[in-house]
Amino acid sequence: MKRITRREFLGMSLKTGAATMFAGMFAPSATSLMGLGGVAQATTKTISPFTFAVITDSHLYDIPDHKFDAILEKAVADVNGLRPQPDFVLYSGDLAQFGKEAEFVKGKRILDKLKVPYKIIPGEHDWYLDMGKAWRKMFGDEYWSFDHKGTHIIGMNSILVDDFWTLRELTPAERMGYMAELECHQCGLWGVHDKQLDWLEKDIKNLSPDTPVIIMTHSPLWDYYPRWNFQTIDAPEIRLLLRKFEKVMAIHGHIHQVVYNSIGNIRSAGLLSTSWPWPYPPVELPYPHIKMNRVDPGDFEDGLGTHAIDLAKNFDGVLNYRAFSDLLPDNVKRGVKL
Ligand SMILES: [Fe+2]
Ligand SMILES: [Fe+2]
Repeated sequence: MKRITRREFLGMSLKTGAATMFAGMFAPSATSLMGLGGVAQATTKTISPFTFAVITDSHLYDIPDHKFDAILEKAVADVNGLRPQPDFVLYSGDLAQFGKEAEFVKGKRILDKLKVPYKIIPGEHDWYLDMGKAWRKMFGDEYWSFDHKGTHIIGMNSILVDDFWTLRELTPAERMGYMAELECHQCGLWGVHDKQLDWLEKDIKNLSPDTPVIIMTHSPLWDYYPRWNFQTIDAPEIRLLLRKFEKVMAIHGHIHQVVYNSIGNIRSAGLLSTSWPWPYPPVELPYPHIKMNRVDPGDFEDGLGTHAIDLAKNFDGVLNYRAFSDLLPDNVKRGVKL
């Protein structure tokens, strides 16, 4: 008898829930209209309120005194200046540009100036020169979880692709070059793959449904614009595993822009980079009013920034985009409810 894989099983389960999720993406329900000032869905469990900060997508080059070094320094100083201080900082991938050890050494030297602990996940630019070897040596496991003041926080590596390089006989540097393209037709769609799905299933198994959960991935856990890997191929499986929770917050790097979406129990937000802003892809957004302004090409800090996320006792969250320029429309400037 053919063994049913976990992906096939989840796929079958997903078919029954697909209509609901599809509707969730494009027809916001009353409880998913938080960004529009709707009623926030809180968990029944209370937590000790706290703030955490997020920095991402620094794309450091192995070039002395490159301009992106100074911007990451500025981001670290900005977070260190937050009052009250965040409890911790999350970094959402693409610390390096070409996955070189020297780029990580430089990045870690700057990030180590943070006054509070930080946790980091990889982006595609960190990974494909040596398949994560230097990144792991520097930062440890690429997927992890921890508990903080009643909240469960998860980081996952969402940039895994199937082998496209062996048959093409690509060198490691060529493989990295392909993956560094925004639109790589040879590379395929990214995901977390089965090993991490198994890990996630075990990680959350004993958590009660009222546990507040935060999940960080490099790419979005929804289909935003797959051509640029503004997606995670096994996000439906992740959403299915997380469906038991009353409320989940998801944050992601990679897209270098303000964006918001809500599917079922998951509120999802994109993050500003400290390198360059990507343009918005040519698709309709489910929440088109939660966007940043068009970036001024004459101001090389426009479109960049950091983030502080304030969590209330009932796990209502506010994402404060801390743009380095006058980038944000008023509704985003006031903070996006998560
Ligand atoms: Fe990036
Ligand atoms: Fe990326």
